[in-house]
Amino acid sequence: MMDAISISKARLRFGQTIALDDVSLAIPQGTCFGIVGESGSGKTTLMRAILGLQKLDQGDVCILGMPLSHSRAALKKRARVLQPIFQDPAASLSPRSRIRTLMGEVATVLNEPLAVTYERLGVILNRLGLPKGILDKYPHEISGGQARRVAIARALLMKPSILIADEPTAGLDVSVQGDLLNLLQDIRQSENMTLVVISHNLAVVRLIAENAVVMCAGKAVESGDVASMFQSPRDAYTRELLSAWPRLRVE
Ligand SMILES: Nc1ncnc2c1ncn2[C@@H]1O[C@H](COP(=O)(O)OP(=O)(O)OP(=O)(O)O)[C@@H](O)[C@H]1O
Ligand SMILES: [Mg+2]
Repeated sequence: MMDAISISKARLRFGQTIALDDVSLAIPQGTCFGIVGESGSGKTTLMRAILGLQKLDQGDVCILGMPLSHSRAALKKRARVLQPIFQDPAASLSPRSRIRTLMGEVATVLNEPLAVTYERLGVILNRLGLPKGILDKYPHEISGGQARRVAIARALLMKPSILIADEPTAGLDVSVQGDLLNLLQDIRQSENMTLVVISHNLAVVRLIAENAVVMCAGKAVESGDVASMFQSPRDAYTRELLSAWPRLRVE
């Protein structure tokens, strides 16, 4: 089967910092893939490269077998295929529009009757534990945890074939974290979506992903299926990550 995302020999530096050091990976369609690593290891940079928001010095990214293009038209078209949930969700919500407007835009993009979009939205808001009243608010009027869930709702509303979420559970109550991961997993299965989850929390990746890559200082130091990676980590850094957070758990 065709890969949802494939990256070959990605290299990128910011001045002296090597943010991506010869990273290659392939994410099969319809699977859940985890990207783990400590802060500054290059996870968000890798996501930005996949989204076409960050050009690489070297290497290639393909989305559903097509090489990534950086043109405006290509970016717009890609939004229907690949939806991001950014690490700082509040910053990704337009400050001047009510949440309702933000959601309503999806109807236009998908060329779908507004009533149908709102009906789908109702179901998603419900599953995310967001009250309908949130639609009347502006982004600065909601909490960080609500903003994250609003960003997730917006991304899901787009019915993307690939969803890439940067620390999706950050800032959420522990009780909601598990619900959210289950929701993403349910939607992935029912819509045959490809899900990429970035997290420094190994418990999150262990719970949700089939395959994962471990990033360290811009390098993919270990990759493979999550079960064997956690059972017998080959790399010293992965072992260290595992021992550093022995008790973290998503409930
Ligand atoms: N726009 C930029 N300009 C300069 N350096 C950058 C830029 N973006 C990222 N970096 C650097 O690249 C490295 C990787 O950063 P990145 O944000 O990808 O890490 P991360 O794994 O997402 O970390 P975190 O878990 O804290 O979100 C870091 O050393 C960071 O300081
Ligand atoms: Mg990051």
